[in-house]
Amino acid sequence: MPRILTGIKPTGIPHIGNYFGAIKPALDLQHQGEAYYFIADYHSMTSLFDPRQRLEFTLGVALDWLACGLDPARTVLFRQSDVPEVTELTWIIGTMAPMGLLERAHAYKDAVAKGRTPNFGLFAYPVLMAADILLYNSNIVPVGRDQKQHVEITRDLAIKFNLTYGETFVVPEPRIRDESAVIPGLDGQKMSKSYSNTIELFGDEKTLRKKIMGIVMDSRTPAEPKPDADQNLAIQLLKLVAPAEVALDHENRLRAGGLGYGDLKKTLFAQYWDHFAAARARRAELTANPDYVEKVLRDGAQRARATAGDVLARARKACGLA
Ligand code: TYM
Repeated sequence: MPRILTGIKPTGIPHIGNYFGAIKPALDLQHQGEAYYFIADYHSMTSLFDPRQRLEFTLGVALDWLACGLDPARTVLFRQSDVPEVTELTWIIGTMAPMGLLERAHAYKDAVAKGRTPNFGLFAYPVLMAADILLYNSNIVPVGRDQKQHVEITRDLAIKFNLTYGETFVVPEPRIRDESAVIPGLDGQKMSKSYSNTIELFGDEKTLRKKIMGIVMDSRTPAEPKPDADQNLAIQLLKLVAPAEVALDHENRLRAGGLGYGDLKKTLFAQYWDHFAAARARRAELTANPDYVEKVLRDGAQRARATAGDVLARARKACGLA
């Protein structure tokens, strides 16, 4: 049975890029192996410095996983920081990581390019992520394309450790779905919390309608045929949230001419709102039951720690830590 693992960083409210890029693919896999899904609260510390917000976003991501269909009887859902073994493994495999490799990691490179002063945590970010993956003997890591490099770094570190100290770690594979590898945001760039171009997975109806109706289109009239209809952002997003025939019908009408952008955006909002209606209702129920959510996380941490303890012991033994 393959071990499947992925994580979400609680630095804000998850958006549909996180959902279609990682949450949904991960949930679709949860019955094909043993799944370990977690909330990467240690990682959030490299860029978020408000403890109250960290707790709030961490709980929010747990609610999102459960509302979207994570089955806690089967899948292990846990907070990264409930398994502090991961920090020890970060040190151990950090000794396998050349500085040059980490200097090329995109989160660090982007921060430097933007003139930010990177902290050690940001520099070590890919090593902590590698420790997340290796600590649970993960075979498959479902992620969006922006995390591919991090999984490749993980593979490099695992292979180097295995060569240096003997077979210890499972070498994981990223699992990236072509059709949802990079979900575009409201401005057409990659959807990202840091670009303020997100459509939240769960949020206030009025705000989200306004955001979607505010998508900027070109100035062609409704009657004009649009041969590039498949490149239209609203069509691309509609393909994610609407039944295939509805999306195709709108694409064809846009291509032929006659469908106005305003009507297209209204359909997009309605379909988006509908797509997540059942999950939204489940989330509201779960929000009213915080003790249950806390219990799921505590049970998850216990199960995760059992696996983590075994792998860490194996790694310590391999490299001669008594
Ligand atoms: P994070 O929290 O930035 O993103 C969570 C997941 O969402 C995917 N994603 C997207 N996919 C498609 N289109 C987009 N626009 C888009 N935006 C985000 C990301 O690729 C990711 O899969 N470092 C990770 C968290 C993490 C992790 C791990 C993941 C920590 N340890 C171990 C996997 C395994 C991160 O910051 O993801």
